[in-house]
Amino acid sequence: MNTNEIDRLSLEKAQALFDSGDIKRIEVGTTKGLRDIHRYLFDGLYNLAGKIRTLNISKGNFCFANCLYLDVILPVIEKMPETTFEEIIAKYVEMNIAHPFMEGNGRSIRIWLDMMLKKQLGKVVDRQNVDKHLYLQAMERSHVNDLELCTLLHQESTDRIDDREVIFKGIAQSYYYEGYEP
Ligand SMILES: Nc1ncnc2c1ncn2[C@@H]1O[C@H](COP(=O)(O)OP(=O)(O)OP(=O)(O)O)[C@@H](O)[C@H]1O
Ligand SMILES: [Mg+2]
Repeated sequence: MNTNEIDRLSLEKAQALFDSGDIKRIEVGTTKGLRDIHRYLFDGLYNLAGKIRTLNISKGNFCFANCLYLDVILPVIEKMPETTFEEIIAKYVEMNIAHPFMEGNGRSIRIWLDMMLKKQLGKVVDRQNVDKHLYLQAMERSHVNDLELCTLLHQESTDRIDDREVIFKGIAQSYYYEGYEP
């Protein structure tokens, strides 16, 4: 299977996660919840679906957390508070630095983020309005300062949490961020 085919099938799985209501059974804000999301999106597509990585990875000039520490930092990250918008973004930023999987971190961690916003604040990010370039730039800067990311996502947060257009266009946008276009 080529990458485009994997991404297409994974996008269908992401849509099914919401359409089936299975998303409601996934734990919010925990490592287990994130692993379950990842397994759901990539089951049958990657043999590492839901599995924590055992190799080191980097992007641009940024090295994500050393895999030797993942079993120490993941339990710490999941205990981070998630009461305010700022706290939830701070937690998201730390999970992005952990980048616990070999592939598919961006897409699975964004769903994990939205589940925290939905449960704790009754909000989600209306991602169709969040520009890819601005978002990725804010992510690159987020480990130094997350204010730009926080502002960008806060501007586009909405209480239309059960609106199909918000959910499905948001998932498509998340896949577009990672280079997939149907
Ligand atoms: N330089 C960077 N520093 C920090 N975070 C980054 C950087 N570049 C990208 N990201 C974040 O990581 C996400 C995914 O990037 P990456 O391509 O490394 O992961 P991935 O595991 O391949 O995920 P996916 O398959 O969903 O793309 C991006 O959407 C963005 O949120
Ligand atoms: Mg990728």
